[in-house]
Amino acid sequence: MNYHVLTLFPEMVEQGCNTSIIGRAVEKGLISLEAVNIRDYTENKHNKVDDYPYGGGAGMVMQAQPVYDAYQSIASRLEKKPRVIYMTPQGRVFSQSVAEELAGEEDLIFLCGHYEGIDERVLEEIVTDEVSIGDYVLTGGELPAMVMIDAISRLVPGVLNNADSAEYESFHDNLLEHPQYSRPEVWRDKAVPPILLSGHHANVEAWRREQSLIRTAKRRPDLLETADLSEKERLFVEKNLAKGREI
Ligand code: ADE
Repeated sequence: MNYHVLTLFPEMVEQGCNTSIIGRAVEKGLISLEAVNIRDYTENKHNKVDDYPYGGGAGMVMQAQPVYDAYQSIASRLEKKPRVIYMTPQGRVFSQSVAEELAGEEDLIFLCGHYEGIDERVLEEIVTDEVSIGDYVLTGGELPAMVMIDAISRLVPGVLNNADSAEYESFHDNLLEHPQYSRPEVWRDKAVPPILLSGHHANVEAWRREQSLIRTAKRRPDLLETADLSEKERLFVEKNLAKGREI
């Protein structure tokens, strides 16, 4: 997976992605990350990237030309026209299934805006996807792009150490993860659920699955509608967990 980020703050993206699991994946060559400074593609002597909006109004608008030329500097090197993701609160909301869809791409270009937005004409010309990371407004697209890079990268084979860990967690089958416990067995008078000490693998798995159902029903009942449940699990949810009923 090769990420290309069009930004006015390349250091922010580079530094945000050079540590921990993502940094290691870059070092191992499993992913690559290139931050392209849009300012390097200006054609005026002050390297200005923004201007007043036509029609008036507050704020400044990023101009089309430097964004387009920065994009071309990447796209002209690639064999296939890549997906170009514009980070904006107006886009479709990012989710695990969007991450899974994008993890199959060879190259992804992220376009990070600032100020009051980007000239619509260059968006029409180059953008294939508009994505929001949630219903709140940030000062720029860099953090959202890094959020997406993190979520997509952990789905790239080899990025996570434990092959299982990408599967068995929140949003696997559209359910939230079961609670986890580690040593000691008793902490502040709280004991670890005894079944986890039983050594009975099948019972542990059944308990964990039930805990996932309970958690999801309590915290994110909306997820249950599309969760991958067996007939028996559906009945369990309907009987015990439906509509705020406590177990
Ligand atoms: N830019 C500013 N706010 C954003 C958001 N919530 N998601 C994506 N890009 C953004």
